[in-house]
Amino acid sequence: MVLAALDRCSVIPLYYQIQQRLLDQIRSGALKSGQPVPSEQEIAAGLGVSRMTARQALKSLCDLGVTYTQRGRGTFVSANKLEKNIRQVLSFTEEMRARGLRADSNVLCFETVPAVAEIASALHAASGEPLIKLHRIRLADSCPMGIECSYIPQRLCPDLLRTFDASTSLYQTLSERYGIQMAFADEVIEAALASAKEACLLRIAKGSPVFIFTRVSSVQSGQAVEYVKSTYRADRYKIAHRLTRLNRELLYPAELKELGNAQVRTAPVDG
Ligand code: GLP
Repeated sequence: MVLAALDRCSVIPLYYQIQQRLLDQIRSGALKSGQPVPSEQEIAAGLGVSRMTARQALKSLCDLGVTYTQRGRGTFVSANKLEKNIRQVLSFTEEMRARGLRADSNVLCFETVPAVAEIASALHAASGEPLIKLHRIRLADSCPMGIECSYIPQRLCPDLLRTFDASTSLYQTLSERYGIQMAFADEVIEAALASAKEACLLRIAKGSPVFIFTRVSSVQSGQAVEYVKSTYRADRYKIAHRLTRLNRELLYPAELKELGNAQVRTAPVDG
């Protein structure tokens, strides 16, 4: 692969120029996901830069999540990010299936625990009430995508611990065995950096960006069924959603007031 010559008079650091040239190759499709990117030696020799500069350029691409390194094998272009569906309540298995990927799980823990205050309140359960805790690494075609830790009141599915194969689909079992169909979910999404433990489980570098989803899923009656905290790899997921412009006639008075305040705050000053 031939990379365009660097501009040595520019104030833009050489490593950054190399990073941008490699990114151009990836964006244009000249370098596809799974393909190796040029090695440190190739970049250094091809562009006449030090090995340290070439290494810095390769590391910056890994830090962006655009590439990943396999020890002893080299650096490769990451797979395209999956678009996380945040419009529908889907199970991990359903989401992966829809993309032609095989969903799998490594179970870290599957046991009964007493509800701590925060989770009890989210699930409208009593503090200390027995919850089933299911902590899993979720894999797509054997690649770790995220870690999910779910809590479900035991009274809703008393023999789940005994009957459920925790490496299979939780939502399918809840639906087929207990008639529990998730109807809606309240979810908060935050950005974070992977802790050492998360990084190890997800096979990414410590401090890599991750999404934290905290979700409470409920059935049609409003009964909260699952509290789940998920840590998803930001190099494998992106979030896309549709925004609609509000129809003022359909707004509640409080929302109208809020909208009015927002407009006052952002309105340009005349004159
Ligand atoms: C999604 C949800 C989780 C839920 C999981 C069930 O990932 N965010 O809250 O526990 O699906 O997935 P499955 O039915 O594949 O076990």
